[in-house]
Amino acid sequence: MPQSALTLLQEDHDKMKKIMSDIDSTTERGLKTREELFTTMKEALNVHERVEEEIFYPALREHKKAKEIVMEGYEEHRAVDMLLGELESVPFDDESWSAKFTVIKENIEHHIKEEENEMFDKARQIFDRAELQELGGAMAARKEKAQATY
Ligand SMILES: [Fe+2]
Ligand SMILES: [Fe+2]
Repeated sequence: MPQSALTLLQEDHDKMKKIMSDIDSTTERGLKTREELFTTMKEALNVHERVEEEIFYPALREHKKAKEIVMEGYEEHRAVDMLLGELESVPFDDESWSAKFTVIKENIEHHIKEEENEMFDKARQIFDRAELQELGGAMAARKEKAQATY
């Protein structure tokens, strides 16, 4: 039986929080680690956003009571993508790198909290268990396909 859509997203979020805190504790002296972790994080984030924006968000958005929080989700993704794009032009050993990264981390943590609280609550009101699993199955397949492009 496929994993529930909410469990799949939650596990992605937990991994994301872990890698962000690992990156946060790197210093200018650990450039290679910082660079490798950052690359892994960007890929994971990209895959996660695609799964949400192509499957989870559209399914929820059809329902009136979830529309507003979903629209906010898209905007928060765009904001994070923009900040990440800016950070990509900053050298890993620049002294501002870690301050800029912390701002991105805080944005993502805020976004995760909104998804897990408000958005997941709405999803539980809208979909039953079987529907969440069906959605989870489609998301797992999409995730696998997106990961294969890296
Ligand atoms: Fe998201
Ligand atoms: Fe998410």
